[in-house]
Amino acid sequence: MNGGDFNGAAAGFPEPFRLFVRESVESTNDEVRELARMGAPDGVVVLAERQTAGRGRRGAAWFSPPGESLAFSILVKPPEPKALWPRLALAAGLAVAEALESSGLTAGIKWPNDVWLGGKKAAGILVEAGADFAVVGIGLNVNSTEFPEGVRGIATSMRIEAEREFERGEVLAEIIRRFAIRRAQIDRDFEELIAAVRVRCVLTGKQVALLTAGGPKTGIVEGIAPGGELLLRTTDGLERLMQADEVRVLGD
Ligand code: BTN
Repeated sequence: MNGGDFNGAAAGFPEPFRLFVRESVESTNDEVRELARMGAPDGVVVLAERQTAGRGRRGAAWFSPPGESLAFSILVKPPEPKALWPRLALAAGLAVAEALESSGLTAGIKWPNDVWLGGKKAAGILVEAGADFAVVGIGLNVNSTEFPEGVRGIATSMRIEAEREFERGEVLAEIIRRFAIRRAQIDRDFEELIAAVRVRCVLTGKQVALLTAGGPKTGIVEGIAPGGELLLRTTDGLERLMQADEVRVLGD
């Protein structure tokens, strides 16, 4: 890994963010959780070049090829009530989308927090809460061109979409700068955050199939509610979905 690149990036972090770079870990989310248990402060960021057990939502494996992608986790100790912490996932997805846009790309958000480029997934976010902290894990395909068989066809990278390479440190610093702004909006300024998510929501107007805690659902997405829930028009009426394990756009 080019550690110098990341050191330069860390110099561009706003307060209180601090970067720790690791060559190889099982999962950066686990590293950050451990640091939190040892009393690490809000804003610690652990980035790893290699994850041997990187994970995504629903227990899926997360593939992040060394030297080509970004895999990092942020320790957040939110002053807001715990009920609002799930909103950190929206804040993180938006921060990634905005950072991609500042690199000249057109990004979309696939609620709740996948970031899309050109109709495919470029980044995923895994938020895990502890007693008094949350871990925001972000995986972003920056310069990758190959993907494992299971996700080939649905995954993309910044490089594939822009047909050029990107400096990972610069992308990282921009994500952290955007996240610093958006994470402060999960309570009083949430309307502003949601408005920015809405205009990037790739599901609005689409027919989708979802797996929710209440079972599978299909319907047409009408948008995102003021609380961040997905508004789904089903045969039973308009439903507000807090979470979904899997969201599939039908007819794509
Ligand atoms: C998803 O889309 O399923 C979420 C993927 C989250 C991957 C990131 S990579 C950094 C952090 N460490 C992990 O083990 N997972 C997250």
